[in-house]
Amino acid sequence: MRNFISVQDAGDIDRLVNIALDYKAHPFKDLSLAQHRRVGMLFLNPSMRTRLSTQVAAQNLGLEAIVFNVDKDGWQLEFEEEAIMSGSTVEHVKDAAPILGRYFDILCLRTFPSLKNKQDDYSELYINQFIKYAGIPVVSLESATLHPLQSLTDLVTITECMSAEASAFQGRAPKIVLTWAPHVKPLPQCVANSFSQWVNAWGKAEFVITHPEDYELDERFTRGAHITHDQDAALKDADFVYVKNWSTYQDYGKIYCYDAEWMLTGEKLKATRQGRIMHCLPVRRNVELSDEVLDSPHSIVTQQAANRVWAAQAVLSEILHTNP
Ligand code: CP
Repeated sequence: MRNFISVQDAGDIDRLVNIALDYKAHPFKDLSLAQHRRVGMLFLNPSMRTRLSTQVAAQNLGLEAIVFNVDKDGWQLEFEEEAIMSGSTVEHVKDAAPILGRYFDILCLRTFPSLKNKQDDYSELYINQFIKYAGIPVVSLESATLHPLQSLTDLVTITECMSAEASAFQGRAPKIVLTWAPHVKPLPQCVANSFSQWVNAWGKAEFVITHPEDYELDERFTRGAHITHDQDAALKDADFVYVKNWSTYQDYGKIYCYDAEWMLTGEKLKATRQGRIMHCLPVRRNVELSDEVLDSPHSIVTQQAANRVWAAQAVLSEILHTNP
């Protein structure tokens, strides 16, 4: 594995999931894998889970992690080629990235979309410029359109639940539902795009996406899923319910619907098959999900967030093994 920015970098998904689960069982088995090697973790946006879980994962491999909050502590970066830098940007990525490539063995990067210009966001300019100029492996800690470490974690968690309850899933594919939820501000499509991309590539589930009209995601990620505007029908017999808000993709970055009817409640869960509730977090309680659901035994969000460590450890170890 050279870079990790989408499902295309994962290779065999089940193999990567199993590496992560093996690290969960034996966290320190590769403690000396990366002695005297360093990972740089650059954040252009806030994070709790991604930042801390990746640092813990790095430590478990003997890899030193150095975090740099570019948005707060760094010079404002320019990403456009041939830019005339007479505005607010101070340093070009083509000058900064090669230096980081000398300091570190792996570079991890979190960016967010602007949600103003779809073409710019979906070109993934920021992460692609780092890949182009850093000269070392690059790992996405969430980009403008995807969140691959989150999605790998999600499949680790689903696989883990399925093997813990093997008799409930004997001989049948799980039904996984991605349901849109209300939110107070426009959010990226990253988590929903990425989850769709990974579940479709995994190919082992009955996958349904449900959202209000005009919230269609980019078909490049959703193709293969059944898409419906009828949330009740979607939830019927669901084994896993992934709750997430996203802003509109077609008329880019807007909120069309703030309909509390789309919030997931205990009443709606009755139609599911012991539906296990997932969310990438952070979550707006009683907006996206009711307290009743989040605080119920149906919720596996803490297990899911805890599994971020093992997904990150699997990816870092794969990169370390293939880039000695
Ligand atoms: N799910 C997730 O990426 O959380 P953070 O934004 O806290 O890293």
